[in-house]
Amino acid sequence: MTTALYRRYRPETFAEMIGQAQVTEPLMTALRGDRIGHAYLFSGPRGCGKTTSARILARCLNCAAGPTDTPCGTCDSCVELGRGGGGSLDVVEIDAASHNGVDDARDLRERAVFAPARDRFKIFILDEAHMVTPQGFNALLKLVEEPPDHVKFIFATTEPEKVIGTIRSRTHHYPFRLVAPAAMLDYVEQLCTQEGVSVEPGVLPLVVRAGGGSPRDTLSVLDQLIAGSEDGAVTSARAVALLGYTPAELLDEVVDAFAAGDAAAAFAAVDRVVQTGQDPRRFVDDLLERLRDLIVVAATGDGASNVLHGVPAEELERMSRQAVTFGAERLSRIADIVVGALDEMSGATSPRLQLELMIARVLARAAAPAPASGAEQAPAPGAEQAPRAEMPQAGRFRACSDCTAGGTGRDAGVRRTGTDTWHPSARRTGGCHAVRTCRAGARHVGA
Ligand SMILES: Nc1ncnc2c1ncn2[C@@H]1O[C@H](COP(=O)(O)OP(=O)(O)O)[C@@H](O)[C@H]1O
Ligand SMILES: [Mg+2]
Ligand SMILES: [Zn+2]
Repeated sequence: MTTALYRRYRPETFAEMIGQAQVTEPLMTALRGDRIGHAYLFSGPRGCGKTTSARILARCLNCAAGPTDTPCGTCDSCVELGRGGGGSLDVVEIDAASHNGVDDARDLRERAVFAPARDRFKIFILDEAHMVTPQGFNALLKLVEEPPDHVKFIFATTEPEKVIGTIRSRTHHYPFRLVAPAAMLDYVEQLCTQEGVSVEPGVLPLVVRAGGGSPRDTLSVLDQLIAGSEDGAVTSARAVALLGYTPAELLDEVVDAFAAGDAAAAFAAVDRVVQTGQDPRRFVDDLLERLRDLIVVAATGDGASNVLHGVPAEELERMSRQAVTFGAERLSRIADIVVGALDEMSGATSPRLQLELMIARVLARAAAPAPASGAEQAPAPGAEQAPRAEMPQAGRFRACSDCTAGGTGRDAGVRRTGTDTWHPSARRTGGCHAVRTCRAGARHVGA
């Protein structure tokens, strides 16, 4: 049995916290300047360090050498409130999820009367404070407003708006945030070194992505990967499979097929997505992420590694080759189509069908080299040639080859019923015709 990573690495001082400088710096300054409030509210997404910070703050306040911004770590209070400690009598952690009523508030009021057993303050940490009922909060109001000198409150919650305003206004409110990928990547890298595990290139960015900015979730994912690794080495293949990401090779295949306009290869890749039991939505999501990376590479060239953290060098090289083949404009056109598909896939009964239609759209419209700027876009092969420099004829209909507007009637921005929808290659026909831009960015001229 090993203890979970996120417990073994729970920070014991504010300096060890990552990505929450907006909270830790002012708190440390206040502690140094001896400007300590009597009630604090820590809010923010789950797993970002609220409970941890509440414990650190308690540790700072009750340290024998304190109040201090950096607990000494050796006094009784510091040891008891540290990672291995059993907790201190004077720091009461209350899980508001199960102690949320008036009776619990009364009980707390009675406990607050007594002076601390040993340390400077009696500190109440109310975790998941949004679970306290309004009656419970009201019963606490007087105490939170004017607590005895020896009492401090720390509320921690994911939903500060559910903490009644009268309580909130009596606290110092510190908002926690999701941690940025770059900081998180540094942190897990350092952690892997400390743990003595080797991780194949490209794995940690996936871990960071799977963690969604929450240090706890990120550490849990890493923990699981380490647990399932052989000889202390986490391989890329296992990580990708476990986390359900699309293997990079499959993305490469699709992107290369787009570049070559190779429909057979593109559909074969899609088939493999489905046959290997991957979620089509996830695939489209991953494809979009890849396109975004390619757009960044196309725009920044050699500077891309400063933006795309943790992408292995060989992958960057491959991506810059792909980016050059496409060019930024074509990439962004493909990305538009993929975004559209992602929208339509949520709730779609057949995500596979949507995925295949998306591939078809990309191949039809964006896989071909972009027209030279200024030139009008060529209509899709086989499409009816629109009359040029001619008034659109009433009743004549021509679907836009960029967005299927008119064809499916999906685009609110395009006039369809009883009128014509015109592709930009049909020349603008005068003031009486509405010009609109469709979702795919094409301009439509309708009668
Ligand atoms: N800012 C952070 N820096 C470093 N580790 C963190 C941070 N936030 C969370 N963690 C990790 O996640 C675990 C859970 O954090 P916790 O404070 O319980 O989150 P919350 O109360 O916000 O849900 C901690 O034990 C720690 O390992
Ligand atoms: Mg918590
Ligand atoms: Zn101490």
